[in-house]
Amino acid sequence: MTQDASRIWLSPPHMGGEEFEFVRSAFETNWLSTVGPNIDAFEREMGERLGRHCVALASGTSAIHLGLRWLGVGPDDEVLCPSLTFVASSNPILYLGAKPVLIDSERESWNLDPARLEEAIEARTRDVGQPPKALVVVHLYGQTANMDAIRRICSAHGVAVFEDAAEALGATYGATPAGALAPVGALSFNGNKIITTSGGGMLITDSADCAQKARFWSTQARDPGVAYEHTEMGYNYRMSNVLAGMGRGQLTVLDARVERRRAIFERYVSGLEALDGLIPMPEAPWGRHTRWLSTFTVDEECLGVSRDDLIQGLAEANIESRPVWKPMHLQPLYADAPVFGGDVASDLFRRGICLPSGSSLSESDLDRILAVLHETVGAAA
Ligand SMILES: Cc1ncc(COP(=O)(O)O)c(C=O)c1O
Repeated sequence: MTQDASRIWLSPPHMGGEEFEFVRSAFETNWLSTVGPNIDAFEREMGERLGRHCVALASGTSAIHLGLRWLGVGPDDEVLCPSLTFVASSNPILYLGAKPVLIDSERESWNLDPARLEEAIEARTRDVGQPPKALVVVHLYGQTANMDAIRRICSAHGVAVFEDAAEALGATYGATPAGALAPVGALSFNGNKIITTSGGGMLITDSADCAQKARFWSTQARDPGVAYEHTEMGYNYRMSNVLAGMGRGQLTVLDARVERRRAIFERYVSGLEALDGLIPMPEAPWGRHTRWLSTFTVDEECLGVSRDDLIQGLAEANIESRPVWKPMHLQPLYADAPVFGGDVASDLFRRGICLPSGSSLSESDLDRILAVLHETVGAAA
């Protein structure tokens, strides 16, 4: 079955051309398992880019799981996390038997609100007798969070920081790349990300010991020696050498992908300028947004149609779009988690739309999307 060629997807995989050669070399040399030259090279090449140690894994979620374990998170520890994110940011907290504490977003970046973070740490320290063990900070939709303020608050209270950069590879905070803004973090190469290995992720760290431990845990924590002896519990989390080949090819086009995604966003901004009430996600002054997803909020009173009307209009034209993430404090799974604020995240979810943003979108695809948006708004006038 081939894909429906007329459908416009939200963020489909986009190969650059070199991937297949790396994948072919894995087949030709029979390095088809979770060891091999592509894995070593992919880790090295990403490591050079980020100035960090990298461990290639089966997913971004597994990188978050291992990273939090490395930070010492265990049963009944509290771990802070923004409410407005994909569930993969917070689920690893549950995997470890720890307790998520959810925090609202700020409007400036849509990311974690430092003022709410401080409030949460002080309140939990008062109520529980100790500060939360760690924070999972998330860079949403390609934009870094307000890291100076966040790191200052966390370090003042002894809270470890884990960086979920799954959506923000290629973004910066000042001169520092996303992924290198905390001692340990995660990237995702899921099929919808800015570069993909079809499914995969990476643990990023400034610590050689952490990288070594992550490699150990991700391969079932097998102790040295010929016998399959295990002292610690591990996981089957390593990336395959075949998929690492795809990642190597994709990494060669990462900068071009960022440029294209930013250009697509600019096309939306200029093409939608005439529509009052469609407001772009802001770009915060501290860094460079990749515009992994082009995201807007809808002011229904000004625009005359709702966010859901736009999604519906696009769907009828065979174009995929989606709401901004449903915050964790509105999820049944996290109903018992303490939450600090929540109104900003709820509002962004209620009014936010992610438009098709794949770097393979053509100019005529963009014309088609813009025309449907204008028609949907016009039909309601
Ligand atoms: C913010 C965020 N964190 C974590 C993940 C998890 O990555 P993966 O799907 O590779 O497990 C994703 C994407 O899927 C994500 O968007």
